[in-house]
Amino acid sequence: MFSAAPSARLTSEQLLRWYVQAGVDETVGEIPVNRYASAQVAGAAKPRPASPQQLATSATTGSGRQPTIAAEATTSAHLAMECHSLPELRVAMEAYEGCGLKRTCQRTVFADGNPAASVMLIGEAPGADEDRLGLPFVGASGKLLDRMLATIGLDRSSAYITNVVPWRPPGNRKPEPTEVELCLPFIERHIELVAPAILVFLGGAPASALLARQEAISRLRGRWMDYSSSRLPRPVPAMPTYHPAYLLRTPLHKRDAWRDFLAVRKRLESLR
Ligand code: URA
Repeated sequence: MFSAAPSARLTSEQLLRWYVQAGVDETVGEIPVNRYASAQVAGAAKPRPASPQQLATSATTGSGRQPTIAAEATTSAHLAMECHSLPELRVAMEAYEGCGLKRTCQRTVFADGNPAASVMLIGEAPGADEDRLGLPFVGASGKLLDRMLATIGLDRSSAYITNVVPWRPPGNRKPEPTEVELCLPFIERHIELVAPAILVFLGGAPASALLARQEAISRLRGRWMDYSSSRLPRPVPAMPTYHPAYLLRTPLHKRDAWRDFLAVRKRLESLR
């Protein structure tokens, strides 16, 4: 347990420890901001402007209440469908304000690597390092992912990497199902625009969101599955495997992930 506020006589090190215990995991500015005072001045959180779809929803229901998640997901689906290139998709995602995560993160983490590569890897959501740098998998789990890729002869010039959710959930919590639902049209369109030969799903979140499967990743991993979309010419073979962050916590499972990556290499070789 920690006390509610640090005493005036703490050393810098004790103060830092107190911040870490209190859950502070990054600094975002040099000058402290009193958010309580600004909230009082501003009153309730400023509503963002309603999109045409939201206006249509409240007009048809006559309710004037917040649109449902389903209506908001329709908005993200429309926006995603209107994108015909990766730069357009990036711009649309950066401009989208329908997901609450956008208000607490620093950046939209779009993707890294080579979009012309045969293999596209999809993780869950950015962490603190990714949010700061605007690139996926650049923290501790990214370093492990880079090593895993290297074992099968790949790096970021021969693989393409992104996440289901492009905005960091605060405190690195798991994205809520509703947040995943809002982001799903963007990642689906992302896959269609990249049209990779092979997909690798890193962890249970991308596997269940994109394959609509409820089993644990321990049951899904290691088996080729088909990822289908009506706008892809054919189903894409997808390999679910463990998330690198999980492997850092549970190194015993690295050998299973290693087998999965070998299966990916074999499949890539069969394409050549
Ligand atoms: N974990 C993820 O799922 N994605 C990242 O980009 C970083 C960590």
